[in-house]
Amino acid sequence: MILKNIRYLVTQNDDRQIIEDVDLLIHGDRIAGIGHQIPAGNHRIIDCSNKVVMPGLINAHTHVSMTLLRGISDNKELQDWLEEDIFPAEEKLEEEDAYIGALLGCMEMLTTGTTTFNDMYDHMDQVAEAVDQTGIRAMLGRGLLDVDGERDRRVDEAIELVESCRGHGRISTCFAPHGVYTASEQLLLEAKDCAEIFNTSYHIHVSETEKEVNDSIDENEKPPLEYLNELGLVNNDLIAAHGVWLTDKEKQIMAEKGGNVIHNPAANLKLGSGIADIPEIMEKEINVALGTDGVASNNNLNLFEEAKLASILHKRNNPEKINEQQILDMATINGAKALGLEDEIGSIELGKKADLITIDLDSPDMTPVHGKKGLISNIVYSFSGKVDDVVVDGEPVVQGGEVVKVGREKILKYAADLSEKFE
Ligand code: NI
Repeated sequence: MILKNIRYLVTQNDDRQIIEDVDLLIHGDRIAGIGHQIPAGNHRIIDCSNKVVMPGLINAHTHVSMTLLRGISDNKELQDWLEEDIFPAEEKLEEEDAYIGALLGCMEMLTTGTTTFNDMYDHMDQVAEAVDQTGIRAMLGRGLLDVDGERDRRVDEAIELVESCRGHGRISTCFAPHGVYTASEQLLLEAKDCAEIFNTSYHIHVSETEKEVNDSIDENEKPPLEYLNELGLVNNDLIAAHGVWLTDKEKQIMAEKGGNVIHNPAANLKLGSGIADIPEIMEKEINVALGTDGVASNNNLNLFEEAKLASILHKRNNPEKINEQQILDMATINGAKALGLEDEIGSIELGKKADLITIDLDSPDMTPVHGKKGLISNIVYSFSGKVDDVVVDGEPVVQGGEVVKVGREKILKYAADLSEKFE
């Protein structure tokens, strides 16, 4: 496949190079050539005149099956939201529902420019099926909790997921203890051991609310990240969602030992959890990526929207705190680093996986473009997120804004038909 006459190629390589009027060649699942006037030969041609081509976005923390729970509870803080509305809804959520929710979520992510997501939830076989069918890329982890004596079953399922996804070109796996308030010390240590044995990351909610921190101090005499550090879980394999209430000491621990913070500003604001001090975390050279969290707390999966929110949120007292390039990095290459996939995805470079999106410049929200700097500004601040084409693993999965591998109308109808069940 060859993408011809690309107006702007936003590479996100080390130099953050933007190349004008260029062609891009894809062989199999990888980027095989970037240059001017590459001969088309027998390759399938995608005409990218007046289009931007950039790396697909990476949603580094979500729960995709929860897309089915969109809008069921909008006015409660996290603990009440979970206990009064979400846990009861999840009790009704069967395998087939999780599958439909995941299809719906994958479709929403693809059509808004996300090509990879990192997921933690129940019914992960169904999520894997939806990932396989829609053509998106994902890192999946079975959520591990031991609040109800079902710890061993969940650990078994987590290991089975890792084994059943092995060899799938677009699915990687990790271990996903839910949080220090839902996973015991024994389970956290078990997740760590499993991650070491299977050479994966671990994905966990950390310091999302002030209550979580206070409860951890009561129970463990330490805030959550310090406690995880004591158990040996703070290193580059740690994918820590939220980090809203990280202490200075905890940020220092991460600066020294590694680990990734996933910023989910919409969910944190909507559940009244607070605002993570991302500029300060970034100053310590801790890797920060971006996530939407689940739709039940966002209420969508549009990572372009999240990017804009993240930027203006941290500019609120000082517009110099963060800039559009840093935000774009969070949504692309930093997400790849968080997932341990930076050699494969997150930028458009020779030999990397062909995971990319196209944006039509012939639309009001992308007009005018004031040079290369203005282009990044438009991508972060004015673009709606409605992408034109999406390629994942060298395969076209969205064309003209619509998914091509699954039936849009069918998924929408199945999801709509389930609405009454969760009202
Ligand atoms: Ni979450």
